[in-house]
Amino acid sequence: MAALVLSGREVAAAVMEEVAAEVDALASSDHVPGLATVLVGEDPASHTYVRAKRRDAAKVGIRSIHHQLDADSSQEQIEDLVRSLSADPGVDGILVQLPLPRGLDEGRVVGCIDPGKDVDGLHTQNLGRLVAELPGPRPCTPAGVMRILSHYDLPISGRRVVIIGRSFLVGKPLALLMATKGADATVTIAHSRTVELEALAREADILVAAVGRPKMVKATWVKPGAVVIDVGINRTDEGLVGDVDYAEVKKVASAVTPVPGGVGLMTRAMLMSNTVAAARGNISGMGGVS
Ligand code: GUN
Repeated sequence: MAALVLSGREVAAAVMEEVAAEVDALASSDHVPGLATVLVGEDPASHTYVRAKRRDAAKVGIRSIHHQLDADSSQEQIEDLVRSLSADPGVDGILVQLPLPRGLDEGRVVGCIDPGKDVDGLHTQNLGRLVAELPGPRPCTPAGVMRILSHYDLPISGRRVVIIGRSFLVGKPLALLMATKGADATVTIAHSRTVELEALAREADILVAAVGRPKMVKATWVKPGAVVIDVGINRTDEGLVGDVDYAEVKKVASAVTPVPGGVGLMTRAMLMSNTVAAARGNISGMGGVS
């Protein structure tokens, strides 16, 4: 039987509808949420993502404040901007688009974001809250993956999850969210040094690919009936493709996210959700997952 297509479009639309209602409620008490985006350099993919995020903000009524900096901006210039946005009462959320150009220290820039405005959930204080299972903003892509699974009633409790990729944006925080009390998955993080990756992947009830290698996950890597989540967005001659060989894998999996139309849209929707939560001054509401 062909796999169920887990439509990020459908789930993101549901999140965006909730967010729009919350923005309306805030706006009626004279607080229109403001999201500041900071983009450094000319990376075309980053420009596309930030444009899409600003468009999403406009759709739900969030005010967007955009700062474009030259690729040769200094560490200090970027940090000064982020600190001034952190101090600006008109800014509820701050997103610094990553990656920053080579030579810049991303951790130090993210460290200048007021943790209460950290709508990406990437400040070490907020990552610490995730580790400690305290409420806080959750990184958008992992939160989006959790939301897709819950939307489609796909259970994770007790399931074996294999996440391929150990980035601080996706792999590590997603592993923590899934293993958290209440979610209760058994999680393995695989990476470029993992031996017998294909065999390991085939043990997964839920397989997540987040490595940035086009169509790396083949049908033979997937246990029949497994759920496959594709976080990859790779620009190739064929257009956008994920980390999963979608056409083949959907013959084996019970459910799979497409690219485009899958997790990428959820990242943006969860950013909007985190921004309204930040505007309410409620970091525990950020990410939709406590
Ligand atoms: N670059 C790719 N994904 C993300 C994300 O979720 N947040 C930020 N800030 N940069 C990214």
